[in-house]
Amino acid sequence: MTSIGIMSAMHEELVAVLDGLPDKQCVRVAGRDFWLGNWHGHSLVVVLSRIGKVAAATTATVLIEHFGVKQIVFTGVAGGIGTGLKVGDVVLAHSFVQHDMDASPLFPRHEVPLYGLSHFETDKALSARLGSAAQTILADVDRHVGADAVDTFALQAPRLHEGLIASGDQFVADASRSHGLRQDLPDALAVEMEGAAVAQVCVDYEIPFAALRTISDCADDNAPADFSRFIREVASLYSQAVLSEWLRTGA
Ligand code: ADE
Repeated sequence: MTSIGIMSAMHEELVAVLDGLPDKQCVRVAGRDFWLGNWHGHSLVVVLSRIGKVAAATTATVLIEHFGVKQIVFTGVAGGIGTGLKVGDVVLAHSFVQHDMDASPLFPRHEVPLYGLSHFETDKALSARLGSAAQTILADVDRHVGADAVDTFALQAPRLHEGLIASGDQFVADASRSHGLRQDLPDALAVEMEGAAVAQVCVDYEIPFAALRTISDCADDNAPADFSRFIREVASLYSQAVLSEWLRTGA
């Protein structure tokens, strides 16, 4: 049975997924805990990427080289920078760019040197299946998220968006920085700190990659009422429900 790698950046994002993984076993490599288990008949390796591009690239490389995973799915949270995105919406990545990559004048801004690419695409077929599982879960969000959290975070008819996600080694939490990102990358829907690195590793190894990010904040001065609580009570439950639906329906 081929294995699937599941990654999230933070413990809170992964806790519901790990809780739902029966008979898991921990293997420690490169200072990281990799959790091996089976879910809906699929063999999984679940791990925290850690935060930032380098840490995530190392984790993805270990998943592929050491554990032999044949596809990788990333779930977690992101700051919304696209028009119309609100906290509780979900973004399915079509591609990733490193917003802090700048080797100009040697290479065009955002281009990753020696790849001739600034945007790294996710796998279309894998993303379509994950997106369809996400649509199913978002259509019935009250079933997966507690009424308290629905109220606190005003989760009304959360939507699935699809497009570009920008990654960089920075937590964006001020309006002038997110304004700058919008000007530099007008197509970007969301900002986070790992996806572009994992996408690049998966291009290197020719491994299908898909990523789904729940909007936890709008990358401005108004952090959500409680970032950790949002991850624990909303994003982590979305991830668990979407992954379960996606695996249950064949992955
Ligand atoms: N992950 C969640 N919100 C983020 C933000 N505003 N910037 C970077 N990564 C994030």
